[in-house]
Amino acid sequence: MQTINQLDALRQHISALRSVKRRIALVPTMGALHDGHMTLVEQARQAADAVVVSIFVNPTQFGPNEDLDAYPRTMERDAELLRAAGVDILWAPQVAAMYPTGFATQVHVDGPSNGYCGAARPGHFDGVALVVAKLFNQVQPDVALFGEKDFQQLAVIRQMARDLDFALDILGVPIVRDADGLALSSRNAYLTADERAAALALPIALGQAAAQIRAGDDVGQALAKASADLLAAGFAQVDYFALADVMTLEELQHFDGRPARLLAAAKMGKTRLIDNLAI
Ligand code: PAF
Repeated sequence: MQTINQLDALRQHISALRSVKRRIALVPTMGALHDGHMTLVEQARQAADAVVVSIFVNPTQFGPNEDLDAYPRTMERDAELLRAAGVDILWAPQVAAMYPTGFATQVHVDGPSNGYCGAARPGHFDGVALVVAKLFNQVQPDVALFGEKDFQQLAVIRQMARDLDFALDILGVPIVRDADGLALSSRNAYLTADERAAALALPIALGQAAAQIRAGDDVGQALAKASADLLAAGFAQVDYFALADVMTLEELQHFDGRPARLLAAAKMGKTRLIDNLAI
């Protein structure tokens, strides 16, 4: 595995790879890798002949009072995991190289960026779209893989790739969960043992709401009960608990049988957790 920090070197290595490997996959990450990321890498190996993983804690997707400085950075361990998983290139640029002085471009994806995490974290998806557009241009992958845990992020990236004519496939990979059901997330590392135990209420509430909605119960009532259950279990705040169309993310008040997704975000202590479930 080559670890690369400079764009010129990345471009040289990518063109060398291209001459011997037909299809290149990109797995964008912010590091602090867990089994969810490693599943993306495994799927990338199946989808392509060479795998590039990027690790970049992207400042433009963090709000002024968010956890940019505290975000876990575990580069050496991450690099070892990626080497053992047979990754070809680790692309780990510095902030100054991604956003040099005078950088002035923004990317805003209307539609899927609105509502949900977009409402709770203003500007977050602009930062995600910007960095992912840059990564696509830098690596020029044939396929890029993203976890379905960030379901709204996946919708934003699909929309951006369509609108800006990025010639690549985007693969959404199912959520990886701990044995008890909590979705894996780098931010789970912030949870105390008690918070970790209480956080399990999130996947449980999603499962119960999904069962109620599938059984034909009133959607509004099922969602209200789920939010109340989270607060009763110790969550400090529920940002949203909603039913959405899987393609447009339009909020649904009724379940009419079209593919839909329950989306939820809630704060356990200071840690904001998100999760979702297909209906
Ligand atoms: O999902 C993430 O880890 C990040 O939002 C991403 C896609 C790597 C962009 O910084």
